[in-house]
Amino acid sequence: MNIDGTPTRTLRAHPGTRVIDIIDQTRLPHALHWVRVGTLDEAAHAIRAMQVRGAPLIGATAAYGLAIALGAAADDAGLEHAFDLLLRTRPTAVNLQWALTRMWQRLQPLPPGERVEAAWREAAAIADEDVAQNLAIGRHGLRLLRQVPRRHGSVLNLMTHCNAGWLATVDGGTALAPVYAAYDAGLPVHVWVSETRPRNQGLLTAWELAQHGVPHTLIADNAAGILMREGRVDAVIVGADRIAANGDVANKVGTYLKALACADNGIPFYVAAPRPTLDFDLTDGRYIRIEEREAGEFRHVHGIDAHGQPSALQQLPDGEAVANPAFDVTPARLVTAIITERGDCPASPAALQALYPEESHG
Ligand code: MRU
Repeated sequence: MNIDGTPTRTLRAHPGTRVIDIIDQTRLPHALHWVRVGTLDEAAHAIRAMQVRGAPLIGATAAYGLAIALGAAADDAGLEHAFDLLLRTRPTAVNLQWALTRMWQRLQPLPPGERVEAAWREAAAIADEDVAQNLAIGRHGLRLLRQVPRRHGSVLNLMTHCNAGWLATVDGGTALAPVYAAYDAGLPVHVWVSETRPRNQGLLTAWELAQHGVPHTLIADNAAGILMREGRVDAVIVGADRIAANGDVANKVGTYLKALACADNGIPFYVAAPRPTLDFDLTDGRYIRIEEREAGEFRHVHGIDAHGQPSALQQLPDGEAVANPAFDVTPARLVTAIITERGDCPASPAALQALYPEESHG
């Protein structure tokens, strides 16, 4: 994506000095602030604290985190320690496990002296593949979007939840890839962006849509239903953190409610995700571990103060009980289609198997 007119990825690798630069997404949309990551602990912190977030970017950052860690200790113990530490950072997005396992399988058979260079190459391959997959998702998604009936004049009114865009990937986005493709192809498109409490990833979506010039409107999460009933939403498109073999989809909490409202209003509900987000080892969504994040995220609202400085306000009285599940699972029956880099398919075990025949589990 272009930031202020310059093509930019969300993660810059410097293999020569064995560091990476990431965007601190906790500072957006108020400040575009790059952070240098040069140790295993910094990489783990960046993922845990959501300086980087979004399933594909979490995976790519973990891969680079492993490469960084091997610079300090490339023996088996060092590899295992880095793998375990990074794997524990966030539980729901399977891209993390996928990227670390791929790194492990590539590196473990090598002598320690060859691991560091190989790790940087493999992490770069993971990052490049993410970019290519998202481009392909954009192409396939655009084909679907062209067929969506428009209820309000010529403009295609889409809705998304959370941020599954450029910021959630190395480049291009998953759910937003078809949106960018549509906009670039000259389709008149407008996006309803739900705020996505409590972390407000919708603000990230609004920020990057603005960078690309895509018309959009922010809404409170609870406004989705009324907009759908009024015929002001033609389709919903979201990303995913993990898709089980039967097509059940884990994504940011609140996704399920949007899918239910789509079903009630006859609105297509699309999920865009690349192969690393598919978990063929899980038969269905009941087995997906949902991350429960700390209550502080909910107790405070974050923004900037009158001087433009980051600031937090406590919104709940001390001692108020808080539950903060970060994701939910949308059953496959509510999903109109899954859009992957190989094309789109119904959310069913047979259709996913047909798209990825090499994943057959017998
Ligand atoms: O908690 P987050 O911000 O990492 O959650 C992100 C999402 O739920 C995204 O929709 C998902 O990871 C897909 S990103 C292409």
